[in-house]
Amino acid sequence: MVLIHGRRIKSVKVAFRNLKRTSSDLRFIQRRDYRVSRWFGSKRDAKPPHAFGDNLRLIMPKLTPTSSSTSPLAERIHQAIAQADGWIGFDRFMAMALYEPGLGYYTNALQKFGTMPSSGSDFVTAPGISRLFGQTLAVQVRQALEVTQSGEVWEFGAGTGALALQFLESLGDAVHQYTIIDLSGTLRARQADTLLKYAHKVRWLDAWPEVMEGVVVGNEVLDAMPVQLLQRTQGIWHERGVVTSGDGFSWSDRPTDLRPPTEIEGQHDYLTEIHPQAEAFVASLAERMKAGRGAAAFFLDYGFPEAEYFHLQRHMGTVMCHQLHQADDDPLVAVGQKDITAHVNFTGMALAAQNTGLAVLGYTCQAWFLLNLGLAERMAEASLAERSQAQRLVNEHEMGELFKVLGFATSADWSARGFDQGDRSHRL
Ligand SMILES: C[S@@+](CC[C@H](N)C(=O)[O-])C[C@H]1O[C@@H](n2cnc3c(N)ncnc32)[C@H](O)[C@@H]1O
Repeated sequence: MVLIHGRRIKSVKVAFRNLKRTSSDLRFIQRRDYRVSRWFGSKRDAKPPHAFGDNLRLIMPKLTPTSSSTSPLAERIHQAIAQADGWIGFDRFMAMALYEPGLGYYTNALQKFGTMPSSGSDFVTAPGISRLFGQTLAVQVRQALEVTQSGEVWEFGAGTGALALQFLESLGDAVHQYTIIDLSGTLRARQADTLLKYAHKVRWLDAWPEVMEGVVVGNEVLDAMPVQLLQRTQGIWHERGVVTSGDGFSWSDRPTDLRPPTEIEGQHDYLTEIHPQAEAFVASLAERMKAGRGAAAFFLDYGFPEAEYFHLQRHMGTVMCHQLHQADDDPLVAVGQKDITAHVNFTGMALAAQNTGLAVLGYTCQAWFLLNLGLAERMAEASLAERSQAQRLVNEHEMGELFKVLGFATSADWSARGFDQGDRSHRL
């Protein structure tokens, strides 16, 4: 049964604070840069940092000027910096680096998704690892379609269209219309190609509709939304932004009134992110879901509840880049040629949904979610090769634990199957 129904998440959060010093929590903090979906073949893959100091070395952004970059995208960002009196927040930089029309990482023609660097790809996500991912998730989507008495599925940020294809193949007539909303025009063309067989059911929207009914899904979308960086130095909070430095970019901190959502214990220097854009996204979505007759949403991504996210030891933030299946910590170089991400603060997302009047259905790790939906039974019937791929979705040291699932809906009168066991809503 879902724990959060009828209660404010904020009151539950306090209870979780006591849990953050457990050894398993610390383990994840130390390993929080492991993202199976995006580190195949990476140097980190070859030699995981076991000591906290290793992470520090790998993650701390450089405060020295970075190498020169004179691409059209870099020129555009330099112009934006100049127009903003020499400084832009990291959220603006990240938005341009990823989504500047035609030039940003997600709007240019680079390959991005794939299993091997030899294809020119940078990372692989769960639907690209195993089709059992979408087939299993479809069990949850089917239940939610029945509950909401709808035949409509909405997917945000559909990537290659692989998850949409797995859903459409699995759900058959239960889906009447499949709507994709993606910021990337180039990916839209790729999605259309993947989904040719289902062209009669699939549509793409450029703008959000007023009302959304049925089931909404987003896999690794929230982590691709721009974040603001906050840096505490000698006890003073700053917003970390980007300035021009020769042909390239470098970091620059300004004192700010902005604060993380929870107080960070201690006085040590501390870098973190806040996620106003992702929270606004969830609130906008919730408004539209509320305007209809019934809807449920499920978001899968890597991240933590607030108490873990803003843990005193996570002092180097979670911003990471991915290029050719290697992870790095410097978003200021190779701008537009690599992905930039930040982990998701799931408490913030759940609160954004709840404060807009939706009910949190559940929150758990990807392993529990998929196992509750019958992944193990599917794997038992699959070929050995398929089984070993699907194993990555649930292995604790791969995607199973770091990736989480948050579900929210217009009605709390039902229990979503994916949260049957292992629900951690009380930790939000
Ligand atoms: C890391 S990719 C994930 C793609 C896919 N869901 C998968 O699992 O392979 C992130 C995607 O989210 C999209 N995206 C980011 N912000 C978005 C927003 N506000 N609305 C719609 N799509 C968005 C990007 O364009 C991109 O396609």
